[in-house]
Amino acid sequence: MEEIVARIAELKGELNAVILAHNYCLPEVQDVADYVGDSLGLSIKASTTDADVIVFCGVTFMAETAKILSPGKTVIIPDPAAHCAMAAMCTPEQIDRVRSENPGAEVVGYVNSTAACKARMDVCCTSSNAVEIVNGTASDRVIFVPDRNLGTYVASKCPGKEVVLWNGFCPIHQAITVGQVSELRDRFPGAPVVAHPECRTEVLDMADHIGSTEKMISIARSSDSDDIIVLTEVGMRHRLEAECPGKRFHFPEHAVCSAMKMADLRSIVSCMEGMSNRMELDPEMLDRAYAPVKRMVG
Ligand code: 13P
Ligand code: SF4
Repeated sequence: MEEIVARIAELKGELNAVILAHNYCLPEVQDVADYVGDSLGLSIKASTTDADVIVFCGVTFMAETAKILSPGKTVIIPDPAAHCAMAAMCTPEQIDRVRSENPGAEVVGYVNSTAACKARMDVCCTSSNAVEIVNGTASDRVIFVPDRNLGTYVASKCPGKEVVLWNGFCPIHQAITVGQVSELRDRFPGAPVVAHPECRTEVLDMADHIGSTEKMISIARSSDSDDIIVLTEVGMRHRLEAECPGKRFHFPEHAVCSAMKMADLRSIVSCMEGMSNRMELDPEMLDRAYAPVKRMVG
């Protein structure tokens, strides 16, 4: 383990590389990363870094977003098969169709989507700025793709907007049920419930706080409770425990995103040594996706 960690540090220096990792990644991956965060934080880092190479530990849409924001940089991903299941639930052709069915409506797209879909959006958003982005659109009618749960949550916070929903969802968050939350509440009475907005509406209705993975960490830090129920992917435990010593975090069972666990120390070394798994995107698509993604990072 020590040897491989040392090799990664050496490669980082040789390549002038930065390692970015999502909050759901394996603990040992988070520990070698230069920055760990939510989708918005990672996108901002990718757009501002002065490194030549970005090693993106996360799912492919995240590495694609980094490439869209920093087209001149080399973006590599430890495992190019790490696809987000929700991102596969919407295609560019479907966006074109729903747009033609709703003339005048702006298309707001969750960052959990393919680069080809981003190229068809008016503006992109993450779970941490979706409400702000939808509220800031010029049209009264907004098409929100692909997450129907996040879309429903956003619509409830944007009463002035008519939100046309898409039927995508995250299978991991969708699998968290009211029954599981009730059980956790019975086991840990008084513990606040913190939920990711990708959860079902009826689950969000049971939450005391709703926010992105990064927001969850700040909520946990400022909470008075030593027990906190966390409704999201279990990879969050690593940072929560590191940043909130003494607090205990309780997750629903089986909340594991296998795509987020595909980057490991070996695959990081291997892609850095071979400079392999480069994120390459069609130049026209890259160009079209830039404006909506740039609007997302501000
Ligand atoms: P965050 O932007 O909140 O980190 O969410 C990313 C994600 O994939 C949640 O499932
Ligand atoms: Fe996609 Fe869900 Fe995994 Fe997040 S947790 S990357 S939304 S499949």
